[in-house]
This record gives sequence, structure tokens and C-alpha cells, in this order.
Amino acid sequence: MSAYVMESEGETRRLLEQARALPVRGHLLNTGLAPGMAALDAGCGPGLITAVMADVVGPGGSVVGLDSSDKRLAEARSLCSGLKQCRFVQADVRKTELPANAFDYVWSQFVFEYLPAPEEGLAELLRVTRPGGRVVVADVDGPGDLGWPFPEELREGIQKLAAAAKAAAGVDVQVGRKMFHLFRRAGLSQIRVHLAPLYVVAGAADARQMEDWATRFKALEPIAAPAFGSLAAYQEFARRYLAMLGDPDTLKYSVLLITEGQKQ
Ligand SMILES: C[S@@+](CC[C@H](N)C(=O)[O-])C[C@H]1O[C@@H](n2cnc3c(N)ncnc32)[C@H](O)[C@@H]1O
Repeated sequence: MSAYVMESEGETRRLLEQARALPVRGHLLNTGLAPGMAALDAGCGPGLITAVMADVVGPGGSVVGLDSSDKRLAEARSLCSGLKQCRFVQADVRKTELPANAFDYVWSQFVFEYLPAPEEGLAELLRVTRPGGRVVVADVDGPGDLGWPFPEELREGIQKLAAAAKAAAGVDVQVGRKMFHLFRRAGLSQIRVHLAPLYVVAGAADARQMEDWATRFKALEPIAAPAFGSLAAYQEFARRYLAMLGDPDTLKYSVLLITEGQKQ
């Protein structure tokens, strides 16, 4: 199993805060999650979204949270301990060892960006979905270079960071836009794509957003330092990027693409 490139001390906290900030329940309902369903949260992280899924399916349904990380799963088990309809498994999304045709609804958010060959993850999610069931992949589309004014050196720096993460670990921050084509090639029907904000920072970013980015920058130091020539040069870039996030006079935004389709 390949190592999760964003792993760091602050990662569980970052994921929990990020999940709290997004309108996840709306995305789940809008893509077909409903009471009584058997659902899978593939790459569940610390389990906040798994808990929302469990609430939607209710006691008559079931949710499996799957993740490759012990640490994330420990957090998820603790967070969902009161929810009898939840269980957790440690596995790779590309080879889950779950039974075929087992789920009515399969959700995977911010996981496909870390798969060097996302079609492998999609094939496995399709395998475990029952015919007529829905597969939903929600992922980022862009490295964080949208807004205005956006200094060219910061745009080049954030693109350099994305290229370094791709070269070193196969991370693809543009995977969101690629899922529709992959869904078509995999033979899903009734495919719909929803565009939603990942964040809109009109003015100074709040403490949560600053910490989110600081945690990401820190985790990527081993990959980024060689690309920037030195750790000091990378840290200086990160400092300037954070300063721009904190600038009350600029707009920064990023998008989430949610692709859903039905297994034939
Ligand atoms: C960015 S987090 C997203 C967590 C959650 N889906 C959310 O939206 O908050 C990515 C999660 O996917 C897990 N992960 C990464 N690659 C994986 C793989 N190949 N198989 C299973 N889990 C994986 C990581 O351990 C991490 O918990």
C-alpha cells in the first residue's frame, strides 16, 4: 500500500475541520444517499462524513468506513462508537476485499487525487456496488491558484508544488475534472457532475483556513524542498502564500467536482 503523502501530526485535525466546513449532508442527499441503504465511505479519514452517512441511512441501513490508515480508523471508530449501523475496515480502495455487488451507494471524497491510476480505484468501487447502485467521487480541481489579485510568483510556486507532488507521489490535484471521462469509460450510466465551492475566501482567511494550508505545506516539505532548491526557499514561498491568504484585499477560491453515476 503506498504511503499517504499528506500524513502529518496535524492531518486528522485538518480533515475533521475541513469536513465540518463543507455542506457534506447536502452533497450526499443530492447524489442519492437515502434511508435504509447499504453505503460505503471509501477513504473515510477520521469518520465525520461516515457519521453523517450513518445518520442519513438510519438504523435500518448500514455504512462501512474504509481507510488505509490505522490512525484515521482509530479516530473514526471512536467518533462513530455510538452508531450501531457503522463498521470500519482497513484496506486500500483499489483492493478492498469487500464482497462484490454489496452496496447501494459508494462515496469517496479527496481520495482519488492520491491514486496514481484513478481508474483502478473506480474499477474497485464499481465492483463492490450493486447493479443499479450509485458511485460518487468528490475531488479537488486545481492546485489553489485561483483568485485576484494573485501574484505570479505565488501562482508559479503553487503550480511547482503540485508538479513536485505529482512527480514524487502521483498526486493529481486536477483529478476532479477527469472523473467524468473515467466514469464514461468504466461504463457507468446517468452520469452527472456537480460543481461546488471547496472554499471561497473573500478577504482574510479565517484561522481554520490558515491552519489547513499551513498543515498541508508542512506535510509536503520533504517533497517540496528539492523542487524549490532548499527547505528555506520552500518555507519562504509557504510564508508568502499564507500572507496572501491573510490579505483582506484579495479573493481566493477553489472548486470541488462531484461526479456521480449508476452501475449498469
Ligand atoms: C484527504 S483524506 C479524505 C478523508 C475523507 N474522505 C474526507 O473527505 O474528509 C484522504 C484519506 O484517504 C486515505 N487514503 C489515501 N489513499 C488511500 C488508499 N489507497 N486506500 C484507502 N485509503 C486511502 C487517507 O488515509 C486519508 O484518510
